[in-house]
Amino acid sequence: MTTPDKVQFDDRMLSLGLARVSEAAALASADLIGRGDEHAADQAAVDAMRNQLNLLDIRGTVVIGEGERDEAPMLFIGEEVGTGTGPEVDIALDPLEGTTLTAKDMPNAISVIAMGPRGTMLHAPDVYMEKLAIGPGYPRDTVTLDMPPAERVRALARAKGCKPRDITCCVLERPRHQKMIAELRETGCAIRLITDGDVAGVIHCAEPELTGIDMYMGSGGAPEGVLAAAALKCMGGQILGQLLFRNDEEKARARRAGIEDLNRVYTRDEMVRADVIFAATGVTSGTLLSGIRREVGWLTSETLLMRSRTGSVRRMTYRSPRHAATQ
Ligand code: FBP
Repeated sequence: MTTPDKVQFDDRMLSLGLARVSEAAALASADLIGRGDEHAADQAAVDAMRNQLNLLDIRGTVVIGEGERDEAPMLFIGEEVGTGTGPEVDIALDPLEGTTLTAKDMPNAISVIAMGPRGTMLHAPDVYMEKLAIGPGYPRDTVTLDMPPAERVRALARAKGCKPRDITCCVLERPRHQKMIAELRETGCAIRLITDGDVAGVIHCAEPELTGIDMYMGSGGAPEGVLAAAALKCMGGQILGQLLFRNDEEKARARRAGIEDLNRVYTRDEMVRADVIFAATGVTSGTLLSGIRREVGWLTSETLLMRSRTGSVRRMTYRSPRHAATQ
């Protein structure tokens, strides 16, 4: 039997097609940036992503999508996408990661998609995940979920050869994170609080010299955790994730997704078990990507396109007349 890490697909040209998919979703939400309507922005991105995805020669299954079949009419978990010819692939996507950021025109909203061979991505249910991420170049288990937050900072500082106060952590600003933030403050480290968008939050760790972020921690969406793992698999860096359940319904959701050990801590390569391609397009400008630029008659976008097999990272700028932008 083929082991997951030996499963391969021809990702070279396909990756260029994938860039068009995240690009189309981001461009479709362009006119809804800063209009205060999260739902409309999300819907525009979903429609465009689905249309573009269905042009790719793949036999694709959405494993991380807009929700379970009964709650999401499009790009639901299990939906088959693509032309129905070509490789069998798993797809993780979020047409608009940061719906509130988009509606309020705040930084770091992105359209994002990852693709790998069939059966190689964690089918993360729509529950929370405790996440801990650091950039490339550190030994495994430099930081762990078992460590209290302050110990993680001290451990990373030791590994980096700096003081705890030279470390910057990125954390979602939520009441549930108050205790963690207070513990982090005791170390003297800096904290970059974000209001939404933890896929971008985690990716920031992969390029600390550009973003200023060394570590990401805290709970957020589990689907977003898998997308972030796919990105770090391409760029380097580690992420640990553990599903969190608030009630029995959420546990049942996980079991329906095929998860047996509800307490398991997943590493990056357990969430994304084979080579993957990853594309993200900026919707609103942030540290990672420029957002959509609107000029009269024209739209411009920036897309990050990566392949884990080669470690290649492309940044693509696309300028198009408005009427043709998502075709
Ligand atoms: P949406 O784009 O679906 O609004 O998600 C944004 C987000 O901030 C994610 O990046 C994050 O994982 C999750 O929401 C956090 O959830 P919550 O807002 O419940 O803390």
